[in-house]
Amino acid sequence: MDLWILQKRPSGLLEPYELTRLREEARGLGIRVDAVAPEEIDLIVSRGGRRSIRRCGIEVDLPDALLPRTGSATDYFSLAILRQMEHLGVEVINSSQSIEAVKDKLYSLQILAQNNLPIPRTMLVRFPVDVDLVAQQIGFPCVVKLLVGSYGEGVVLSRDPGGFRDLMELIASLDRSQAVILQQYIGSRVGQDLRVWVIGGRVLGAMLRSSTDGSFKANISRGGDGHPYPLSPELEQLALSCAAALNLDIAGVDLLFDDDQYSVCEVNSAAGFAGFEAATGVNVARAVLEHCLERASGDGPIPSVLKAFLEASTTT
Ligand SMILES: Nc1ncnc2c1ncn2[C@@H]1O[C@H](COP(=O)(O)OP(=O)(O)O)[C@@H](O)[C@H]1O
Ligand SMILES: [Mg+2]
Repeated sequence: MDLWILQKRPSGLLEPYELTRLREEARGLGIRVDAVAPEEIDLIVSRGGRRSIRRCGIEVDLPDALLPRTGSATDYFSLAILRQMEHLGVEVINSSQSIEAVKDKLYSLQILAQNNLPIPRTMLVRFPVDVDLVAQQIGFPCVVKLLVGSYGEGVVLSRDPGGFRDLMELIASLDRSQAVILQQYIGSRVGQDLRVWVIGGRVLGAMLRSSTDGSFKANISRGGDGHPYPLSPELEQLALSCAAALNLDIAGVDLLFDDDQYSVCEVNSAAGFAGFEAATGVNVARAVLEHCLERASGDGPIPSVLKAFLEASTTT
């Protein structure tokens, strides 16, 4: 199988951990991996067929599958490439539609809420901000987030109405068109959350993330610690439902501890897995590639009910 991994060119000399790991595991599975940057692609939309994608100015054969790893940095251009590849019959995992949805933090929460999944109460900011309404609907402290972002950048805890008013004034003076959401602060376990990996309708494992600098943000990329976390049927079901609602084949589901329940923080379409592999020993790279192989060979994921039935009938 030929697999393209769509990934922005690294700013430094070092290749991202995820790409190195995917290359390593691909060798054992007989997959030819090619890392392709969106900047290398020219897209020609016409009635013509598979020759509408050029790479570095040259017509190329299309791969069997494409793994986008651009996550929340997926811009219009990258989405256009994904849509074209889908149209040309390339298996795109995750799909353009699902990546576009999860990139927008409010839209993805809207979808989760429509599917009756637990999320923190969330509000879209309209300038000038009605602070009394925020106090009434969201409460303080509240979490302020830019609509698009990752690595915990653009996520701030606002402790009281006075500081909140100042922060809103600052944002409005910088860019009034900036889309910002406000979220109920889920503070049962400060600076801790869970990352659950879901691939092809199966949960790979869970990791407890804890910030190490006193921040309320648990992102590993900000120096957070990762430890394996035991799965439970409730946890698995919730993570699977989130991935299914957002139509993601591959998902990093982030959950907040909300008393004795969970609240969904966000779902990532191309989560990093350096911290997860190190903390849990789970081979995420291999699971991702095996899923790509399955998809490219036309075997859709087997529904869990059928899987359980097949397993039961082979063991008896
Ligand atoms: N509503 C919330 N209540 C408590 N903590 C939160 C909340 N939202 C986010 N966090 C913390 O902040 C971190 C970053 O927020 P997140 O929305 O996931 O942004 P990013 O996409 O940048 O990772 C989360 O991993 C979590 O630890
Ligand atoms: Mg996050």
